[in-house]
Amino acid sequence: MAKVWSKRFDNSLNPFIEKFNASIGFDKKLILEDIECSIAHAKMLGKTQVLSSSEVSQIINGLETIKDEYLEGKFSPNPPSEDIHYCIEEKLISLIGETGKKLHTGRSRNDQVGTDLRLWLRKEIDIIESLIIDLQISFLNLAKSNIYTLIPGYTHMQRAQPLSLAHHLLAYLEMLQRDRERFKEVRKRVNVSPLGAAALAGTKIKIDRNFTAKELGFEKIYKNSIDAVSDRDFCIEFVSASALVMSHLSKISEEIILWVTDEFSFAKLTDKCATGSSLMPQKKNPDVPELIRGKTGRVYGHLQALLTMVKGVPLAYNKDFQEDKEPIFDTAETISSCIKAMTILINEGIEFNIKNLAASVENDFSNATDLADYLVGKHVPFRTAYQVVGEIVKYCSERKLLLRNLKIDEFKKFHSGFDQDVFAELEPLNVVKSRISEGGTGFTQVEKEIKNWQKKLLI
Ligand code: ARG
Repeated sequence: MAKVWSKRFDNSLNPFIEKFNASIGFDKKLILEDIECSIAHAKMLGKTQVLSSSEVSQIINGLETIKDEYLEGKFSPNPPSEDIHYCIEEKLISLIGETGKKLHTGRSRNDQVGTDLRLWLRKEIDIIESLIIDLQISFLNLAKSNIYTLIPGYTHMQRAQPLSLAHHLLAYLEMLQRDRERFKEVRKRVNVSPLGAAALAGTKIKIDRNFTAKELGFEKIYKNSIDAVSDRDFCIEFVSASALVMSHLSKISEEIILWVTDEFSFAKLTDKCATGSSLMPQKKNPDVPELIRGKTGRVYGHLQALLTMVKGVPLAYNKDFQEDKEPIFDTAETISSCIKAMTILINEGIEFNIKNLAASVENDFSNATDLADYLVGKHVPFRTAYQVVGEIVKYCSERKLLLRNLKIDEFKKFHSGFDQDVFAELEPLNVVKSRISEGGTGFTQVEKEIKNWQKKLLI
């Protein structure tokens, strides 16, 4: 197929270079957006009377036909077209003839590709947002049924203080909420039209940029034509927001992987989300969270690739930017599938071992802070109380005892402020219940937060 620029060149392209240069293999994903963008552009050229109304209808009908053929599986964008933009233009010309050659009036592939990509991303962001909401709802449902389930809370991976399991799960709702806010922000900057910036300088053809922006649902237009065709910040922001989603998914994945080990035994995987080993008959492997944890690296890699891609690239469009698509497409696909898989895992893949959880918070020193706070309640300064409890913990550890195993007389040897009522305060349920500070794990706080989330998520 002759290239559109063939008259300018004496020789044809080396076949390897032709393939090397092409992006059709991946940018065919933008086919519907490319057609949508071209229809808006053609309508605009009709409005400004650059094209006659019959030319505009021929072009639009042609583009609609291409779309229908594509959706019916009768047409697929492929080489030898270099990219999706040429592909659709070539197909249009083959369908409607000379008039098709008028479509590219007053635009360049530089503003066209930026427009297509923004349309595609905007739609993806909306899909991702609704997937995140689904995952939030799953976490909320699991939290609702585990308000009074206790789980050890850790700092430095050392037992710290017992928690309501619901409180632990609600922490993920907060992270996911920030993720949603970030995507909303990114969407604002995605939703700006570069169309009409042409190659880099604008055009002398009579165009109406606000018209195409409105047709395509963009909130506003880029003010500077050079910036319009060279801005890839929105791509980086999208992948960056996605990388943070992955970090959150990876964190819960890691926790689930630990929880289902024999060593922890806090939970087990149901058969719906576990896989067996090819060799060891006893195994039930947490492949789903492991895969999510593994795929996180891939999205971080895309972020690095894009940041490096834009580094030191002079204004305006440079072919380097063709490299933005694969990381973006893969990021969107990866995070969507990971969010979906995690939602299934939370909904039907995990069962908590309530007995083991209860036993584990009974058998440690995670109530030591409460012992110190007990003395604080008896007007002992916190630092003094802390030292006293430190000594008690040491005493118990050496004798393989827990705090609750001490007799009241033993307590009194360490401080006269101890009384019989100390034992109730050491009970894990009471320990958790007492954390009534705003945002704490106390049951009343957790119940309040669950209500807030129900309102926020409209369930
Ligand atoms: N396939 C190109 C890309 O993805 C389209 C824009 C090409 N523009 C150019 N001046 N060569 O970036």
